[in-house]
Amino acid sequence: MIFAANFKTNHTRTSTVQYIMQMQEMLDTNPTNHQVMIFPPVSALLPSTEAVKVGTQNAWHTQNGAYTGEIGLEQLAEFDIDTILIGHSERRNIIGESQELLAQKFDYFAKNNFLIIYCIGEPLEVREAGEEAVAEYLWAQFNGIDIDYNRLIVAYEPVWAIGTGRSATVDEINSTHNELRKRVKAPLLYGGSVNKNNIVDICKVSNVDGVLVGSASLDAKNFYEMMRLVN
Ligand code: PGA
Repeated sequence: MIFAANFKTNHTRTSTVQYIMQMQEMLDTNPTNHQVMIFPPVSALLPSTEAVKVGTQNAWHTQNGAYTGEIGLEQLAEFDIDTILIGHSERRNIIGESQELLAQKFDYFAKNNFLIIYCIGEPLEVREAGEEAVAEYLWAQFNGIDIDYNRLIVAYEPVWAIGTGRSATVDEINSTHNELRKRVKAPLLYGGSVNKNNIVDICKVSNVDGVLVGSASLDAKNFYEMMRLVN
């Protein structure tokens, strides 16, 4: 399974270093078969370790240049970062990134051979409108995206489940991932209020290849214990 941790605007450089050391130590002592990735804030980017892959939550689709507040390939290369989250709902909805912009980012980072975790997810009113509406909404979030890109991972994260403590049900995850599997060959992650209580059931769902975790990943020990539950 893939266990990806999205720190969002949490942790400092100091605490991220401690987190990675602690995680590396736990994995050295008691290894799992999982693939572990963390996405710290930009001020805490670091080279990956043997057991923990470090990716960026965001970057601009440029080598360098005049993009105030953004980082490009040059800044990522300094830390050997080749993994990026694109399309997270907080970037779509709070920052206002359009599908067109996301497609440009995707194209640029795919051309640079990045591992891309591409996030999609519907708002509550679409979920309430039924499965057909959900499928239509999600497929539209692939506009301009090469779903056959060979270093792609897709994360399905219903917006109403992110940070709310209300995860999608196993049935909802099952039917949505089956729908996605019709066209997407890449690994499929589920994200949205994944925690120690639901991790086992979620990971049992067919076509779930891993999880993208926010709040429950912030404590290294807690995140590691979630991995052990699935081992
Ligand atoms: P959450 O966040 O686990 O806190 O719901 C998940 C995410 O936004 O990736």
